[in-house]
Amino acid sequence: MFNHIVILTGAGISAESGIPVFRSETGLWEQERVEDVATYEGFSRDPVKVHNFYNKMRQSIKTKVPNPAHLALARLQKEYPQKYGATVDLVTQNIDDLHEKAGSTDIIHMHGELNSILCEHCGKRYPYFEDSTPKSECKHCHHQSLRPDIVWFGEMPYQMERIEKLLYRCDLFIAIGTSGVVYPAAGFCQVASSVGALCVEFNLEPSAVGSSFNYGLYGKASVTLPQFVDELIEKGTAKQSV
Ligand code: APR
Repeated sequence: MFNHIVILTGAGISAESGIPVFRSETGLWEQERVEDVATYEGFSRDPVKVHNFYNKMRQSIKTKVPNPAHLALARLQKEYPQKYGATVDLVTQNIDDLHEKAGSTDIIHMHGELNSILCEHCGKRYPYFEDSTPKSECKHCHHQSLRPDIVWFGEMPYQMERIEKLLYRCDLFIAIGTSGVVYPAAGFCQVASSVGALCVEFNLEPSAVGSSFNYGLYGKASVTLPQFVDELIEKGTAKQSV
């Protein structure tokens, strides 16, 4: 049985719900230049383009629904603590709302959220579901200084202190659908491993940091993850290797 489980998700968990991943032949970063839409410099150069890029994504996720992998994690978060008195924390790099829609709670969105906005003037972040423009006013300070609440390249991910604490005490670390090329998330397995946690990755293929994990379960997360979660809830434990 595990006492503290930490889950990390990436774009791959939402791929089967129809949200494009970042790195693949048809991925977002093949269609757009990262420096244009995912850096502060790009936003300063062309704020209208960047607002519109995230407006389009914010609109597009409205119709997207969670797949069996998101649902399995919500089940794990609910049932494992009930049955075994353990903690199950969910950290996501995803900016979509599919974990929320699946019923997960207390989700750590380390790279921000599409359904949130950040005021550069007063620093407040708040839920936001409309389109934003450089002229949109902050509902708190009324300045026209809103930006998408997304952590861009070169910026500090949210809640890093809390995440580190969780990693340093965890005994099971699971990463799902992440390529393992963007730090600090790509380094989470090494931290968990250093404190003796069992580390398991779910992906279509070994990620860039796949060798740091005890083992990987390769295939569609919508298939591999629900099986793993069912067993974990039923037996309390997971295989130590494959
Ligand atoms: N099941 C499991 N894994 C999958 C599936 C699937 N159905 N489909 C794709 N994958 C895997 C891919 O093999 C790939 O390793 O998901 C991973 C997606 O990788 P990326 O597109 O790089 O997404 P992610 O790791 O979340 O990116 C990290 O980079 O661009 C930034 O801020 C952005 O949060 C993002 C971060």
